[in-house]
Amino acid sequence: MALDGPAGSGKSTVARLVAEKLGFFYLDTGAMYRAVALKSLRESINCDDEPALTRLAQEAHIQMVPRPSLPPAVFLDGEEVTEPIRSAQVAERASWISQYQGVRDALVKRQKMLVEPGGVVVEGRDAQTVIAPDAEVKIFLTASLEERARRRWLELRQRGEEISFEQVVAQTAERDQRDQDRSVSPLRKADDAVELDTTNLTAEEAAEIIVRMVKEREHQMATKGEDL
Ligand code: DC
Repeated sequence: MALDGPAGSGKSTVARLVAEKLGFFYLDTGAMYRAVALKSLRESINCDDEPALTRLAQEAHIQMVPRPSLPPAVFLDGEEVTEPIRSAQVAERASWISQYQGVRDALVKRQKMLVEPGGVVVEGRDAQTVIAPDAEVKIFLTASLEERARRRWLELRQRGEEISFEQVVAQTAERDQRDQDRSVSPLRKADDAVELDTTNLTAEEAAEIIVRMVKEREHQMATKGEDL
């Protein structure tokens, strides 16, 4: 199944919970862009050097290892980088390099191979359109701007960052605009995706709804198979 949504819609937590409940592999495609971004920073590659960044994306050895009740551990060239890839600097670089077609092609090629056998929850910008256009279930998670900003604000406060709620609302609105306006893989719901509003749902509740949808779909496919 493929899942996407705007910042703060809860997509990462929900994707992980769905994968845990179904015994699926959770493929966090954003973590792959972040790993390549980290490698490019460490190797001091200029952020405008598309050929070098493409080569790096082709060569980087990225592994994701599931952990119970935690986001997957991420390894880059054999070294664990689960924490370093979450820094603001890496997020910024990942956002930049994900615009390059060469970088995208290198990562999409691997992502397609990973989803091919099935039993995967794939999360990311192009999950429903490019990586897994044939996914059995496609979900676009949403939530109101205020709720998404509230979640982000609580997260930042937990990390000890001093920022007003109003500032986070403004930042979230700005990021939405940027995500929707970008020319390469802009954020949008696929035509055949189901929209699920999580404003009044916990991540656990949203995951339960999705698990039911996947099971229904599996049942439909099994009975269709019997009819043939
Ligand atoms: O979801 P995230 O914040 O971990 O993603 C990191 C960056 O990579 C973000 O700027 C969006 C980009 N990205 C992308 O372009 N395509 C994907 N499939 C996943 C992430």
